Amino acid sequence: MANSIVVNNLCVKRDGNPIILDLSFEIRKGSIAGILGPSGSGKTTIFRAIVGVQEITSGKITVLGKPAGSKDLRNRIGYLTQSASIYADLTVSENLRYFSKILGTSEISVDEIIDLVDLGKNIKQLASTLSGGERARLALATALLGKPDVIILDEPTVGLDPLLRIELWKVFRLLGEQGKTLLLSSHSMDEADLCDSLVLLREGKILAQGSPAQLKSETGETQMESVFISLVKKP
Ligand SMILES: Nc1ncnc2c1ncn2[C@@H]1O[C@H](COP(=O)(O)OP(=O)(O)O)[C@@H](O)[C@H]1O
Ligand SMILES: [Mg+2]
Repeated sequence: MANSIVVNNLCVKRDGNPIILDLSFEIRKGSIAGILGPSGSGKTTIFRAIVGVQEITSGKITVLGKPAGSKDLRNRIGYLTQSASIYADLTVSENLRYFSKILGTSEISVDEIIDLVDLGKNIKQLASTLSGGERARLALATALLGKPDVIILDEPTVGLDPLLRIELWKVFRLLGEQGKTLLLSSHSMDEADLCDSLVLLREGKILAQGSPAQLKSETGETQMESVFISLVKKP
């Protein structure tokens, strides 16, 4: 199976309003894919549909060969929601053990994940005392419990300065090297270049998809920001 996520002709209405309009894309296994689009374009709605918590109007979503929302997928997909919650009054280690209990994942994986996100020095520190970058890595760690094969990250780097973004991207790369499939969203085009493949979204529709290099060559632009603008202006 070459693709971890396959979305076919997805349509979603929320409160009766069409939000996602006939969307189709595939995410290759072991790749880092990005859904990029302005705020309100439907990124979170797509993620909710992929993890199986969003009712869809029509279309089909397959994750690891199974229909989205299947029981078997529960521990195989990690989901970091847009406003990820960690408990300020628990330590790093307590946060992860707490989430691990809720998810029913093994305690051994907690130690492994602490290493992976490089919070070994901070395990006894209260989450409220962590720096922005450490907090972001702790939030990411909660999505990695249970060692999911597919990791969905909704705007994981929002609000982080460029250096902290780089820190977080190092972890994404490590996960990619382990054969995990990452699908993340961002409303800022400067992260696009770091992804293997992109879906550019606007008002619930796909503007374009492909690798950053493909999209640049198709539009004749050199910067992703200009690629997006050029696609929006295209008649
Ligand atoms: N609970 C909801 N009920 C109705 N409409 C919603 C709800 N949540 C989001 N929307 C609408 O769906 C559209 C897409 O939202 P969202 O998927 O959150 O976009 P993004 O994540 O790209 O910012 C927006 O127009 C938003 O107003
Ligand atoms: Mg969102």
